[in-house]
Amino acid sequence: MRFPAEPYRIKVVEPIRYSSKEERAKLLERAGLNIFAVPADSIYIDLLTDSGTSAMSDSQWAGLMVGDESYAGSRNFFKLEQTVREITGYRHVIPTHQGRMAENLLFSAMVRPGQVVPNNSHFDTTRANVEAQGAEALDLVIPEGLDPAAEHPFKGNLDTARLEEVLQARGKSDVPLVMITVTNNSGGGQPVSIANARAVRAICDRHGVPLFFDACRFAENAYFIKEREPGHANRSVREIARELFDVAVGCTMSAKKDGLVNIGGFLAFQADALEEAVTNLLLRVEGFPTYGGLAGRDLEAMARGLEEVLDEDYLSFRINQVRMLGTMLDQAGVPIVKPVGGHAVYIDAKRFLAHIPQSQFPGQALVVALYRTYGIRAVEVGSLMFGHKDPKTGEEVFPKLDLVRLAVPRRVYTSEQMRYVARSVIEIHKERETLRGLRIVHEAPVLRHFTARLAEVTPAPVRT
Ligand code: F0G
Repeated sequence: MRFPAEPYRIKVVEPIRYSSKEERAKLLERAGLNIFAVPADSIYIDLLTDSGTSAMSDSQWAGLMVGDESYAGSRNFFKLEQTVREITGYRHVIPTHQGRMAENLLFSAMVRPGQVVPNNSHFDTTRANVEAQGAEALDLVIPEGLDPAAEHPFKGNLDTARLEEVLQARGKSDVPLVMITVTNNSGGGQPVSIANARAVRAICDRHGVPLFFDACRFAENAYFIKEREPGHANRSVREIARELFDVAVGCTMSAKKDGLVNIGGFLAFQADALEEAVTNLLLRVEGFPTYGGLAGRDLEAMARGLEEVLDEDYLSFRINQVRMLGTMLDQAGVPIVKPVGGHAVYIDAKRFLAHIPQSQFPGQALVVALYRTYGIRAVEVGSLMFGHKDPKTGEEVFPKLDLVRLAVPRRVYTSEQMRYVARSVIEIHKERETLRGLRIVHEAPVLRHFTARLAEVTPAPVRT
């Protein structure tokens, strides 16, 4: 197998430390086996997230020096506005400090208690921001999107038949907007096709409901369309992205992903009527509309990052680097979500650690082993993150999937480092029967995965 080669060279290096196994065991013990509580400088390869972890280019770093820190009317804002207008076609561009603030602004302006917001799959902050308005966040991804083994080119597609049912049952007055997340992070970084987006738009139009994108990974999604959707192979990713954006009337964006910056985001849309409501709230909670919670230099870096992310050499390397990591694992028999998504490889922990029941957090057990033995940080997306007690019966309810996400930061790690990750996971897979389940020692009432303390279940399972 050949890894794709990096379309950039290294000008600045940031040393990372290969801590000792003994040190990591101690740190894990102190952290209550919770990887969020481990200091980042004791991690060798950090695959916790692809968000805000990108390496900026020489042009972006140079852009910081032309930051205009004027309170109002910064030249960097006008450049960002121009860039976003060209890429998306949306007239109004409201910068925010990150994606969730764009969600907060949009939903505060448009969503009322008792309403429902359909999406292929809400990301956790998107869900939380819908629910904060007293509305229901409804996931309508196609059935293949929930099956780790189902090979489908656009597993992020939204189920149009179910959307039609919801809109018929609830109508325009109860559905303030429909959203599509590209790519579908909660479903494994899977893309959405233009055909599906158009079908969703047609339904929305029939019911008079606006369609928005959660566009965090729009360039990766457009690359998949070029690769997989008939008729798009010879078009540029920029053209495809624009065609996709044309299907909706606005988007929320976390530029910490496909904006190639460490902080930043925006809300962009067509409707003049929305601007005033959004701007009023923005002024109170975030900042003046020409900086939106960021410094002028951050706006410049974001504008440059949004251009760079559409470079097809970059995108081809990016998508193939993640894919190769997945392929190496798959070929060694490690169960992963297939096909490999755009920003991460998701390991199916229920199958990887079949001897550990969901009540003993197989995903977290794998996360712990990866850090303890190899200094790699991954994140559990399974029963620790989503498991909860049924409020009526008091019984533990487990999610359908127990996954471990290996999210790959953009332009940060070399293919050799990805090989190290693959070899490490494969080694653990060979020894998987020696891994033990975990139990919770302490948990917070909400979002427990961030602060929970765990311990290993004893005794260890007997090896056969
Ligand atoms: N939407 C999606 C699809 C996301 O993946 C994220 C963040 C957000 C919205 C929120 O953006 O963090 O800038 O406020 N995802 C990160 C992750 C945190 O690790 O997947 P934000």
